[in-house]
Amino acid sequence: MDASDEPERWCLQMYNKIASAPGDLTGLNVLEVGSGRGGGSSYTKRYLHPAKMTGLDYSSKAVDFCQEKHAKNVPGLTYLQGNAEDLPFGNDEFDVVINVESSHCYGHFDKFLSEVYRVLKPGGQFSWVDIRKPDALPGVEKEFAKSGFTELKSEDVTKNVVAAMSKSGENRLKLIQRRVPKFAQPIFHSFAGVEGTQPYKELTNREVVYTHKLLKKASD
Ligand SMILES: C[S@@+](CC[C@H](N)C(=O)[O-])C[C@H]1O[C@@H](n2cnc3c(N)ncnc32)[C@H](O)[C@@H]1O
Repeated sequence: MDASDEPERWCLQMYNKIASAPGDLTGLNVLEVGSGRGGGSSYTKRYLHPAKMTGLDYSSKAVDFCQEKHAKNVPGLTYLQGNAEDLPFGNDEFDVVINVESSHCYGHFDKFLSEVYRVLKPGGQFSWVDIRKPDALPGVEKEFAKSGFTELKSEDVTKNVVAAMSKSGENRLKLIQRRVPKFAQPIFHSFAGVEGTQPYKELTNREVVYTHKLLKKASD
């Protein structure tokens, strides 16, 4: 990995897992829904070599940031403002769609799934990972069952995420100490999920769990 990517190794490892799950991306057309600050889409384009990588996010501020920070020097990488529940693409456009820790924000998970299904090519794959309270999982399973996708894989990755949070904690603490005024540091600790914070505890105690699913759209 490039030295400039090293500080984000543990977050990028999640992207490596999720974006590699469908297989070799070389030459494919890939979409990330909910791309946030864009590092995951950038990693996917630069290391897994799809022909085209599009990161879509609801926040136009995030999209502007990503265009400036990531897209300028990486041909084939673009970011776009849009809604996961009403994707601004035609039918059958993408070989692979990825979605990382974003779908818990959406009002209508079923609409999101039907939009992903619509924009994928026949036989295209959808790699999804997100947090949920354990008692919400049966509802999520029901939505996937209704979506038309065939499930290729379903895996609980909570332990892996906790391990990654522990490993990245020290760097994040140092960064927050250097860059954030003291009064605001606790908010940043929580956002970064460092040990001892509520998000870290919830995952460790399995009050919240992380699930990865790999799904396939029917071939024509
Ligand atoms: C927790 S962040 C995750 C960002 C990124 N995937 C990552 O793992 O670093 C969730 C992202 O989902 C985006 N989001 C929330 N609702 C959305 C929607 N309806 N359509 C598209 N993006 C949405 C938010 O703007 C935010 O950037």
